[in-house]
Amino acid sequence: MRRTVLALGLALAAGSMALTPAASAEEGDAAAGKKVFRKCQACHTVQEGKHRQGPSLYGVVGRKAGTAEGFKRYSDAMKAHDVVWDAESLSTYLENPKEAVPGNKMIFVGLKDAQDRADIIAYLKQAAE
Ligand code: HEC
Repeated sequence: MRRTVLALGLALAAGSMALTPAASAEEGDAAAGKKVFRKCQACHTVQEGKHRQGPSLYGVVGRKAGTAEGFKRYSDAMKAHDVVWDAESLSTYLENPKEAVPGNKMIFVGLKDAQDRADIIAYLKQAAE
């Protein structure tokens, strides 16, 4: 009897794990992204108009690169970077900032984990809602 109960318990545990939706790389998980954002906080906020060493990232998804209002310290490279930030371009930039936008001034090694990048992009989207 004991053994049956144990087996049932294990089956239930396995079942509930399978039911928990795992965030896919494309979707991203904003709550997890908030934690990853700790790596950015020394230089960035997600509050509108609140700049630090780096520009405010409020509304950055959908914004042309190098155009946060009131931020005066963009490099020429970033101002000339002709993209409207979306999930794809942000992911490329955050993976390797130096390579994606040569000459840009963000001193950051990059987020090597694709899931971290998807999560942070989900967080940045949510923070502007
Ligand atoms: C050491 C400071 C620093 C850190 C850490 C940092 N950034 Fe930056 N970031 C900057 C600076 C400075 C710029 C402006 C770069 C330029 O103009 O060349 C920038 C620019 C950006 C831009 C382009 C913004 C725009 O308005 O076009 C994005 C997006 C960005 N950072 C995201 C992030 C994320 C996400 C993280 C964390 C994973 C991060 N940064 C970590 C300093 C930093």
